[in-house]
Amino acid sequence: MTWSESEIAALVEPDRVHRKAYVDPEIFDLEMERIFERLWIYIGHESQVKEPGDYYLARVGRQPMMMTRDWNGEINVLYNRCPHRGAQICSARKGNAGKLFRCSYHAWMFELDGRLDSVPGAKGYEGTRFDPNDPAFHLRKAPRADNYRGFWFASLAEDGPDLKTHLGRAGLALDQLVDRSPDGEIEVVGDCFHMIQQSNWKLFLENQIDASHPGATHESTGAAARSVENEMKKDGEDPPMSYGFLSDFVRHGIDGWDKFGTTGLPQGHCTLEGYMGLRPDDPDTNEYVERMYASYGEDKAEEILGVDLHHVLLYPCNSVQPPLQQLRTIRPLSPNRTLSEIWHFRLKGAPEAIYQRSLAYYYLVNSPSTMVNADDLFNWWKCQHGLESNATEWVSFHRNAGQDSEENGIMYSAPSSMSELPMRSMMHAWRDYMTANGAGA
Ligand code: FES
Ligand SMILES: [Fe+2]
Repeated sequence: MTWSESEIAALVEPDRVHRKAYVDPEIFDLEMERIFERLWIYIGHESQVKEPGDYYLARVGRQPMMMTRDWNGEINVLYNRCPHRGAQICSARKGNAGKLFRCSYHAWMFELDGRLDSVPGAKGYEGTRFDPNDPAFHLRKAPRADNYRGFWFASLAEDGPDLKTHLGRAGLALDQLVDRSPDGEIEVVGDCFHMIQQSNWKLFLENQIDASHPGATHESTGAAARSVENEMKKDGEDPPMSYGFLSDFVRHGIDGWDKFGTTGLPQGHCTLEGYMGLRPDDPDTNEYVERMYASYGEDKAEEILGVDLHHVLLYPCNSVQPPLQQLRTIRPLSPNRTLSEIWHFRLKGAPEAIYQRSLAYYYLVNSPSTMVNADDLFNWWKCQHGLESNATEWVSFHRNAGQDSEENGIMYSAPSSMSELPMRSMMHAWRDYMTANGAGA
């Protein structure tokens, strides 16, 4: 079937969404065209390409792209596609190209900013339409590429709001990642975790902001961590703070996750309040706070540290956890396959113990051996299977529907609720992007 705009709009109702939004291949293609190949999509952090010649691959919608650092120190976002006969220029996920890019097929050479340098057998092109100055024979640049505080994004649409406008208030997530560094600088730690989720990309975004799932999904992990903590306490030992990252899942019970507010921001972005109490009164934290005071002054430092957000979703592709220096990005591959990258950042100037603490969270939640991510991945896979059946046509987002409040364009969840406001809010933005309402958005 070919979807009309009114048929697409009818998939989203105020309190429920049709399952076809998650499983239909044509809808997926339209999402790539109207959302992922139009909006600002995350490419990577500037510290991933420190030296001239460094490159890092990233997929934007269905397009193979790469971020490169050229000899002027500038970052470029290019299509990873040779203008000769189509070969990908770089096949390793990351590396250093040296002075020039050299296509492995017939040795066309390119500058690090994509300009054609030379072609072998140049004489053979005389009298043809080949023109070395024609951009059609250079590595194509993303129509728009920009960064916000060192985080690079690309938009494959020529027009539309600039990056800062697109991020709006949600840019606070990236400010927080940087401003929490006493030196005002961060750098990526090693490489990321790469994972294929056997599920639709929207299930991931919904889960990140879903306060009603940790007490249920991660109950067994939380209970195991809690019992280890109790054993240690019985033996007079102090459990490390990182164990609390897991035992927190059961601290609130399933129903007790109603204390944490959520918002729906314009453009589809969302936030979930923090719940972890990441500012204990211990020597490591106090040392870190002292360094922040020294760098920013007490008032400004308190303003930075006083922001307590667990997750910020930058629609449609990022989930950021500012107090834990973590950023995830997703790259949809098909209706039921999504590549995720999970990145960790080091706060320059922070005590080593603070780095180790957040690194512990990164491993405990994301590593291949953790039960936390495995439980999430399994649920999304099960949801995808369920949504592929026609047992019922609708996905329910009814919790606290009709009770959201709005102020200055921001939607707030009802107090003391585990509202499904963020899911409703994201799907309403989805509907607008997918139909004429979102044209140029
Ligand atoms: S395909 Fe790249 S040089 Fe021929
Ligand atoms: Fe989870």
